[in-house]
Amino acid sequence: MPDRELHVYPDVTGLLQATARFLRDKIKAVLSSNPHCSIALSGGNTPRALYQLMASDPIRREIAWEKLRFFFGDERFVPHDHPDSNFRMVTESLFEPAGIDMKNVFPVDTSMSPPQAAAAYQKTIKAQLGATGIFNIVLLGLGNDAHTASLFPHTNVLEERSVWVKEVHVKSLDSWRITFTVPLITTAQTIVFLAHGASKAAAVKHVLEGRNDPKSYPAQYIVPIDGTVHWFLDSEAGAGISS
Ligand code: 6PG
Repeated sequence: MPDRELHVYPDVTGLLQATARFLRDKIKAVLSSNPHCSIALSGGNTPRALYQLMASDPIRREIAWEKLRFFFGDERFVPHDHPDSNFRMVTESLFEPAGIDMKNVFPVDTSMSPPQAAAAYQKTIKAQLGATGIFNIVLLGLGNDAHTASLFPHTNVLEERSVWVKEVHVKSLDSWRITFTVPLITTAQTIVFLAHGASKAAAVKHVLEGRNDPKSYPAQYIVPIDGTVHWFLDSEAGAGISS
C-alpha cells in the first residue's frame, strides 16, 4: 500500500460524507481484529461538521462507539468549558449527540501547568495504548500556515523526538497549546488530513509538492513510519496540486 493517498472531492458536502465513511470503514477494519480502536481527534473549525455527520444517522448506527477510545491530537490550554476548547467542541458535535460514554474519552487535563499537562497526557496515552503508543487513527487539520495539531512553524516542539506530548507557547496566538509530537503522530497506522476551502490551497500545495522545508511547513514532518497518510480535500483546497 502506498504511504500517501489523495482523496479530492468537488465540494465540502461530498468531502465530509466521504471522510465520514472512510473513518467508519477504517474503524470497522480495526475492530475486526482488535477489541478497541484508538482515535486521536483534531480540533479547530473544519472537523466540527464531520463530527456532527458521524454522530447522525445512518453513520452513527454503523459505528461500535463503545469500542472506540478517544484522544486529542492537540488542545488549547483553556478550561474544558471555554469556547476555544477542542474538548468542548468535540463534546458538543460528537460525544453528546452520539451518546458516547465519557469513560472512553481521554481529554488533556488543562487544570495544571502546561508542562505537567503534557507529561500527564503522555502517561494517559501510555496507560491506554501501551509502550508503543501506536494509534489506530489520527485525524489532523491543516492551518493556512501549514501547521498541524499544534506543530506551528518555527516552534521548538517541531524537533521534539524524545516525548510523545509537549507543551508549546504559540507566539502568534499568544497562547499555550498541548500537542502530539511528530513521533507520536507518525507511528499511527492511519493518518487522515482533512482540509477544505481556498484558504488552505497554498499550504496543501507546498506541503504535498513544494520544496522540503518542514520547519516552515510543519505538516511536511508527517510522513508515516509504517502506516498510510490520507489527504481528504475539497477541490478548492486541492486546487494547486498536480497529482
Ligand atoms: C486546533 C487544531 C489545528 C487545526 C488547524 C486548522 O486545535 O486548532 O488542531 O491544528 O486543525 O488550525 O484549523 P481550522 O480547521 O479551524 O481551519
